Amino acid sequence: MVQWLKINFSGALILTIAALGLWSCGAGSLPEEGTPDVALFRNKCTVCHSWPHPRRHNVREWNHYLKVMETHMKNRGVPFEPQEMETIRAYLHRNARKD
Ligand code: HEC
Repeated sequence: MVQWLKINFSGALILTIAALGLWSCGAGSLPEEGTPDVALFRNKCTVCHSWPHPRRHNVREWNHYLKVMETHMKNRGVPFEPQEMETIRAYLHRNARKD
């Protein structure tokens, strides 16, 4: 009985910590805040939706999404220079989810 309570308690603790972790990386702040790279990312990637957090995807997924976004941007007439795409790609890769 005591054993069960213990397991249950640490389970709840782990969930709380996980929830806090998620909240703190999703709530309004981006890695490298204040740099020109973040400014460009915010500027280009919030035209159609709010900015996705870099840790949402790994490097491989970012390469995929950037290609998809390039097409969306072309279709919608949103300018996206190759130079800008490479800057954003490098920024996303530096801060991507590691797996
Ligand atoms: C021209 C409009 C447009 C712009 C600008 C745009 N996106 Fe998107 N994005 C979309 C649309 C539409 C979807 C949903 C459909 C899809 O996934 O193709 C989407 C979905 C996504 C998704 C997948 C869902 C998710 O939230 O994980 C990611 C990631 C994403 N965009 C990243 C970016 C990044 C990074 C940029 C800046 C380089 C960007 N987008 C700029 C239109 C745009």
